[in-house]
Amino acid sequence: MIKSSAVPIQNKLIDRFGRQVTYVRISVTDRCDFRCVYCMSEDMEFLPREQVLTFEEIATLSRAFVEMGVTKIRITGGEPLVRKDVVGMLAEISQLDGLDELVITTNGSQLVKLAEPLKKAGVKRINISLDSLDADKFKKVTRVGDLDVVLKGIQAAKKAGFEKIKLNAVILKNRNHDEVNSLVQYAMEEGLDISFIEEMPLGVVDSHSREEAYYSSDEIKRDIEQQFDLLPSTKTTGGPARYYSVQGYDNMVGFISPHSHNFCDTCNRVRVTASGLLLLCLGQEHSMDLKRVLRANPTDLNKVKQALIESMEIKPKGHDFDITEQPVIFRHMSVTGG
Ligand code: GTP
Ligand code: 5AD
Ligand code: SF4
Repeated sequence: MIKSSAVPIQNKLIDRFGRQVTYVRISVTDRCDFRCVYCMSEDMEFLPREQVLTFEEIATLSRAFVEMGVTKIRITGGEPLVRKDVVGMLAEISQLDGLDELVITTNGSQLVKLAEPLKKAGVKRINISLDSLDADKFKKVTRVGDLDVVLKGIQAAKKAGFEKIKLNAVILKNRNHDEVNSLVQYAMEEGLDISFIEEMPLGVVDSHSREEAYYSSDEIKRDIEQQFDLLPSTKTTGGPARYYSVQGYDNMVGFISPHSHNFCDTCNRVRVTASGLLLLCLGQEHSMDLKRVLRANPTDLNKVKQALIESMEIKPKGHDFDITEQPVIFRHMSVTGG
């Protein structure tokens, strides 16, 4: 039995800059069935199982976060849906009192099988990566992914009836930048939102130079405006995207622009890696070993909460991404938690 946590030391997670953490991204595995060129090297070593948080540990952590004011939990990876029994864990987390949104980010490869069970488990919204609508280019970007399987997965997600489905496309110059309009067209016709993401320099990748492949959100927006009318919107999902509505359609186009439009001032989130490291910023190394705290005090939620409070002291102001340099952050995105 986990000890009651009715009287926490302090009940909100507020950092030194007055930012309150209400959004936690939890990576449930560093493994993935794709090898996207911006995310991984071709050869990757994955964590041994005993270093990965168990479902019970993830559920305990989630409870601690929610009792401290977190209202949104996003399950990520690697590819979260390659972890066995992930659906059961989601069903447990979705029951937490005070959690408004349990959401997931996936590459879509398992959705034909899992869309319906995820919806039943209480997942409200789902974000699906889709970088290309051309089967050959899709294969090049993901190295091993099959576009058709993902498109079928998107249809399965639509059928399952999630509140919202958002597509994510990381745009790389000369790889897929010429596809932004077909991606917007596809999203609008399918009734989906879509976000375009600037590549972030996390981990060493062996396929391209991040500087050479940089394609800014402003360039993407300019290209889209050749074909669609974009109207700025005040809508927010609590995530980093700036949204525009598309005239004539009900869905939105978003831009996630860590380089060109920094959003760190309004940061409301932290991440937990698959090995239980709390990362206070995607683009910095400041961290706290929550696995150690959890395993040393498996029945005492207050110890975890104390650690979370202390971590607020080291949440940095923001990232210092520089695509012209070798990465200073050696974690790959799959380790960091998409
Ligand atoms: P919504 O809840 O739909 O707003 O999702 P989201 O955009 O927060 O999450 P998603 O998993 O779809 O992430 C899209 C991209 O935004 C990924 O590449 C994330 O790594 C990136 N992202 C999310 N949070 C941050 C952040 O704090 N800093 C930076 N630089 N990128 C982030
Ligand atoms: N830069 C930007 N986005 C990335 N993603 C993975 N690696 C990177 C990177 N280096 C995206 C995936 C997915 C989301 C979770 O993170 O495409 O949509
Ligand atoms: Fe896998 Fe997502 Fe990384 Fe692609 S971006 S390799 S789908 S974890």
